[in-house]
Amino acid sequence: MDSAHGRLDSGDAVMRARHRMDTCGERAMKASGAAIAAESLGKVFPDGLETLRDISLRVEPGEFVALLGPSGCGKTTLLRLVAGLEAPTAGRLSVDHAASGGAPEIGYVFQTPTLMPWASLAENIRLPLTLRHVPRREADRSVAEALERVGLADFAKTLPSRLSGGMAMRASLARALVTRPDLLLLDEPFAALDEMTRFRLGEELSALQAELGFTVLFVTHSVYEAAFLAARVLVFSSRPGRIVGEAENAAPMPRQPEHRSEAAFQTVVEELRRLLSEGSASSSPSRPAPQNMS
Ligand SMILES: Nc1ncnc2c1ncn2[C@@H]1O[C@H](COP(=O)(O)OP(=O)(O)OP(=O)(O)O)[C@@H](O)[C@H]1O
Ligand SMILES: [Mg+2]
Repeated sequence: MDSAHGRLDSGDAVMRARHRMDTCGERAMKASGAAIAAESLGKVFPDGLETLRDISLRVEPGEFVALLGPSGCGKTTLLRLVAGLEAPTAGRLSVDHAASGGAPEIGYVFQTPTLMPWASLAENIRLPLTLRHVPRREADRSVAEALERVGLADFAKTLPSRLSGGMAMRASLARALVTRPDLLLLDEPFAALDEMTRFRLGEELSALQAELGFTVLFVTHSVYEAAFLAARVLVFSSRPGRIVGEAENAAPMPRQPEHRSEAAFQTVVEELRRLLSEGSASSSPSRPAPQNMS
């Protein structure tokens, strides 16, 4: 089993995972992104709660993969394992930079934006760079670029309390992008937003990913969101989370709004619904039965 450890700089800011390098070397190498390989991965928390069981998966560099499953099935736990914030209790996990095989730069976007309320948007986005001691001028350029990419160039001096929910999530995305991550982990980032904002942000994320080429693991409860955004969706059972199946969406990236009305999209949605209901019917006991002490 590989050990995993990492450093969370702050909130949903960017972090660096320091997973041991996978030495098998058979992975397809592309110019950008990170690759993830897990083999029979399991997680049992110290209180005995089995959260993940026998997870085997492979994510190719630059791939957009969604993790879909019911509440409590271990999706966030899996993201935390990939980020190096938790260690697996069984199996093997490696997360590598595609070209060098070293540790990738990882961006992490949590469900809530967690911006520092006393600092301007630009200062919030600058934080991961400050923590990395990036020189001021270079950091200024990167912050301006990140704000521009998420459509917030005019709000650099604004305080987070003045932002709408959608703008705060954009800011959170900018903070994750500012270090140019190889791998972006997103944990239900749009769950709290209204449907139109959710759709728009999804389309923008799709465009950014197609342009910048980072690898994405995107956690969601929403069948529609998973089907729209991802090239491949892994569907989890109820806890302990196991992968019950996967569905591919071969539509070209970046995804356009019209894709939601295409027959191919509906087919993926139906397949995901089927897998989800199969997964929720197949949950199994995860805690050993209590010992009878009498
Ligand atoms: N540090 C921990 N110690 C003990 N149990 C934990 C810990 N973290 C998570 N769990 C438990 O593991 C299970 C899976 O949690 P996790 O947050 O990964 O689920 P999830 O699929 O992300 O759920 P949701 O969709 O509701 O966010 C839950 O039962 C949770 O209580
Ligand atoms: Mg979660």
